[in-house]
Order: sequence, then structure tokens, then C-alpha cells
Amino acid sequence: MKILALNASHRGEKGVTAFLLHQLQQGALESGATWETATLARLKINRCLACAECQGEDHPLTCVYHAKDDAYQVFAQMASADLLIFATPIYLMTMTGLMKTLLDRTYATMDVSAVRLSNGLIHHHLNPAISSKPFVPLLVCSNLENASWQNAADYFRRYARFMETRQVGQLIRNASNLFELKKHPHLAQRFPKVLEVIAAYQQAGRELATRGQLSWHTQRRANQEVIPVPFFWLLKHFRPIKQRIVTVLNTPSIFEEE
Ligand SMILES: Cc1cc2nc3c(=O)[nH]c(=O)nc-3n(C[C@H](O)[C@H](O)[C@H](O)COP(=O)(O)O)c2cc1C
Repeated sequence: MKILALNASHRGEKGVTAFLLHQLQQGALESGATWETATLARLKINRCLACAECQGEDHPLTCVYHAKDDAYQVFAQMASADLLIFATPIYLMTMTGLMKTLLDRTYATMDVSAVRLSNGLIHHHLNPAISSKPFVPLLVCSNLENASWQNAADYFRRYARFMETRQVGQLIRNASNLFELKKHPHLAQRFPKVLEVIAAYQQAGRELATRGQLSWHTQRRANQEVIPVPFFWLLKHFRPIKQRIVTVLNTPSIFEEE
């Protein structure tokens, strides 16, 4: 199993996204997979110009940035992988610009004039070697609200449908600040579930390597709440409990006047 992780954190290798990917990688390597990470923050990936040159007759399916930036290098990695991990922090309730910029550039690999029906949707030709790889989204956010990551989760579900591929699991990590263990190692003692989550990520890596998908049980462990309040997942839907959380976590805004 050849796994490619696309890390779209603007903090690159310093972020929680990289930390979680590292746990997955450890499990995957133990179970015999090969692993590559494309850290998008380190690469030069220009935004799509919507110039439509890639759809013209002069240079069909060739972007004007071909050989001028790193997008095609990433496409080649995607094409040779068996499974992709779309790893993105949540910025303003969706994936980061780095992730979307890369995905937009795959437009240059699709003949949009060739309309067809796919998965019950009217769509156009695509390059299955790049766009139809089974994948797992890994969404990382600091907020506790599900509404923070739901846009991105919906996006990837629809992406799978349009791109005629399978989403083989979903990893959602909220309260990401509690995983800044390099900066604050004491967090693991204060929030012991952090260690359970890390172990679940390593198990998830093993499952991707051996089965090519995540079990329900491992996703549950990996996606669990780490704040030690009984039934927290349920309770956070109730306003009084939320008010209590705000009181406990409350930090004054640095913009508030004295
Ligand atoms: C520009 C920006 C926007 C953000 N927007 C959100 C958000 O809407 N919801 C949320 O939960 N976290 C948000 N965050 C927090 C990040 O998702 C969180 O810190 C995450 O751990 C970043 O990933 P990294 O550690 O790999 O860099 C935002 C961070 C930045 C820099």
C-alpha cells in the first residue's frame, strides 16, 4: 500500500496536522506500507488563473504553470499512490487555501468539454489517476463545535461522488491546541485522552496499510472528545453546558479594553 498524505497546514511540519500525520505514518510503516507526505506549505503551487489554456487546442490538459511550479510533482505523487490523505486544518470553517489551491489546479487534468453522467451527477471527464484515488480527509480544528469542520467534511463527501472514488474513513480532530505536546508536554497528563487519540491514529495507520480503510471503532477512538466531561459530545449541544464551557475556558480577548 502506497500512501500519500497532502499536508495543507500553513504551519507545515510544525503544526498539529503534521503531528497527527506522523502518528498515522508510524502505524502505516509498521504494517508494511510506504508513505510520502507532500507538505504544501513548502511547495510552490500557484493558483489557477482560470485562463482556460488547459482546455484549449494548443496545449490540451496542460497548465500554463506546467514545469514552472510544483503542482505537477504533486500530481505525479498522487498518480503513483494507492491512497490519499487530504490533511487540512480548518480555516474559517473550511479547508485551507493551500488545499483548495492544489485541488483547483487538478482542473487542468480534466477535459471539461466531455460531459457525462457519473454517480447520478452530470459531470465531465476527469483523470482517474489523479482524482479517483480512495482517500481519507483529516480535518484539524481548535474549536469544539462540529459546525467548524462540517463544511469541509461535506465537501469531501461530495468530492468523492463527483470524482468517482471512495472516501475510506474520516478523521476529525477538534481541540487541536491540546495536541501541541512539543510546546506543552504537560497537556498529556492533564488530558489523558490525548494519548488514547494518538494511539488510535497509529492504529488507523495500520488499518490503512493493511485494509485500505478505517474501521468504525478506530475512527470513534480517533475522533473522540478529549475534554474530560462525561457525555461531552452530547452535552455540548446544550446551551447551559456551553455557557459553562465558555466560563471554564474563558480567556479575555487581547483586544478588549481594560
Ligand atoms: C486563519 C485561520 C483560521 C482558522 N479558523 C478556524 C475555524 O474556523 N475553526 C476552528 O476550529 N479553528 C480555526 N483555526 C485554528 C486551526 O484550525 C487550528 O489551530 C489547527 O490546529 C491548525 O492546524 P496546524 O496546527 O496544523 O497549523 C484557524 C486558524 C487560522 C490560522
